Amino acid sequence: MSFELPKLPYAYDALEPHIDARTMEIHHSKHHAAYTNNLNAAIEGTDMQGKTIDNILINLDKTNAAVRNNGGGFYNHNLFWTVMSPNGGGEPTGELAEAIERDFGSFAEFKAKFSKAGATQFGSGWAFLCVKDGKLEVCGTPNQDNPLMPGVGCGGTPILAMDVWEHAYYLHYQNRRPDYIEAFFNVINWEEVSRRFAVEK
Ligand SMILES: [Fe+2]
Repeated sequence: MSFELPKLPYAYDALEPHIDARTMEIHHSKHHAAYTNNLNAAIEGTDMQGKTIDNILINLDKTNAAVRNNGGGFYNHNLFWTVMSPNGGGEPTGELAEAIERDFGSFAEFKAKFSKAGATQFGSGWAFLCVKDGKLEVCGTPNQDNPLMPGVGCGGTPILAMDVWEHAYYLHYQNRRPDYIEAFFNVINWEEVSRRFAVEK
């Protein structure tokens, strides 16, 4: 049994004009596909084969660069696609909205903190919103590191992920990462993030 590249839950052009179709197509069909294939090759014949990706990351030996980079890349992009939607944007409601207010003070403060985590990540990486012991936390990670990995980022389980690798935005935004981050907020699928929060809280 090997890991499979998941289908996108929408068309490549569905997130236009915020994220362009060409970027989405290359990102999914080339970058995410490569992480998936390389992960399968890296775990073949090891005791990681047949385990869930969560289990592999939680128990990761971080000196295993192939699994760290490709397992992280596989997981992070799986999450990334689902937390965006052509009907996204706005603000969350219900329990997630209350938890954001409780743990960050306001949605605006959360947005500022999450945006900063993405904007200040030097080089390639991610910004995450995580649930740890019932509390929300924001953190950034370099490369394809993921909060499930031991001793990385804020710990806990990520429920929102933003890719700040140049491959996520360079075709359309060039060096303007802050513009891409602002645009990302127009496509966040708060319904899905809320569903993940309800499972993890
Ligand atoms: Fe990416």
